[in-house]
Amino acid sequence: MSETSPDVLRPHAELHYADELAALDRLDDRDRPPGWKLSPWAVVRYLIGGELSDGTVISPKYVGKQRLIEIAVATLATDRALLLLGVPGTAKTWVSEHLAAAISGDSTLLVQGTAGTTEETLRYGWNYARLLAEGPSEAALVPSPIHRGMSRGTIVRVEELTRMPPEVQDALVTVLSEKVLPIPELDSELSAVRGFNLIATANDRDRGVNDISSALRRRFNTVVLPLPATVEEEIAIVSRRVSELGATLALPDVPAAADEIRRVVTIFRELRNGVTADERTSLKVPTGTLSTAEAISVVTNGLALAAHFGDGELAPTDVASGIVGAVVSDPIHDTVAWREYLEGVVSERPDWADFYDACRELDA
Ligand SMILES: Nc1ncnc2c1ncn2[C@@H]1O[C@H](COP(=O)(O)OP(=O)(O)OP(=O)(O)O)[C@@H](O)[C@H]1O
Ligand SMILES: [Mg+2]
Repeated sequence: MSETSPDVLRPHAELHYADELAALDRLDDRDRPPGWKLSPWAVVRYLIGGELSDGTVISPKYVGKQRLIEIAVATLATDRALLLLGVPGTAKTWVSEHLAAAISGDSTLLVQGTAGTTEETLRYGWNYARLLAEGPSEAALVPSPIHRGMSRGTIVRVEELTRMPPEVQDALVTVLSEKVLPIPELDSELSAVRGFNLIATANDRDRGVNDISSALRRRFNTVVLPLPATVEEEIAIVSRRVSELGATLALPDVPAAADEIRRVVTIFRELRNGVTADERTSLKVPTGTLSTAEAISVVTNGLALAAHFGDGELAPTDVASGIVGAVVSDPIHDTVAWREYLEGVVSERPDWADFYDACRELDA
């Protein structure tokens, strides 16, 4: 684990929540699986939040069903790896970072999957100067995050698994089934230390994704993270994350923006579901994902506008352009969907008049 200065924009979870993790470690008298910093119970508590016996308050990281997190944590204590699946913005990356932080005290071992990811990124590479000078040796080998996690006995994260070409994904099969990484150049292999496991994330919505080969899928337990079940739950997520982000970005204080947050979340949910909250009017569904993550960024941007250019209170004009920008990602189809919503739904809600005007002004 590395030290961070207070100027770091986004400290790793294990540093940001070091106090909570230390309190859990102190009070945790349950069995810890080999190589784990905490018991499965304490890991779930860290993610779901709550108050400990000594009064320490653990902030909720994941808002949703505790059972899903229990299944995820239990999986990691077995010899199967964990695949977090879901549409964009359902906290897959967020949950995987916090799981790694709580289980291994280190969330930094990360492979980002892309179409250009190669097998070396998953296994190991070489320091070519040394390789040429000395031939293959331990010293010339450049370990991948997976190599490091196996030798340290920690959790490794693979982001966007399905963006990697299937033949590259398959490099994980031996690692996950045999728990060894063969190194033919050195005529050796690396055996994983207890505590090693893998968390992969994948979303089933984006274009340009590959399937997971069936050989690999059998090595994973899949947990699907759903969109927030209710409007209240989604508002709670957005409010919490917005205030945390505002604090890290040192945005000047803007008074609680509860009404605007409710409006953003309502609009996103209605358009995502293709029907108004009262289920009376059906709507065209825009092509964009309108995820919780986007709602968070619309409100955060609105707060920056309000703080720096407004009168210090979050107003409808501060969120209007962000909302329209998120809704209209395909200029042709989405513009029609947005117009219909604006004229058919927004304009009909008396307490949304100021927001309606703010949206109309954007076109002027
Ligand atoms: N149920 C939830 N509980 C807590 N935070 C949530 C929840 N859903 C979304 N978020 C927040 O949404 C933001 C985005 O989440 P994250 O980046 O992990 O999404 P993702 O599922 O990895 O999306 P993508 O598929 O685009 O990579 C995070 O700040 C996270 O806190
Ligand atoms: Mg992600």
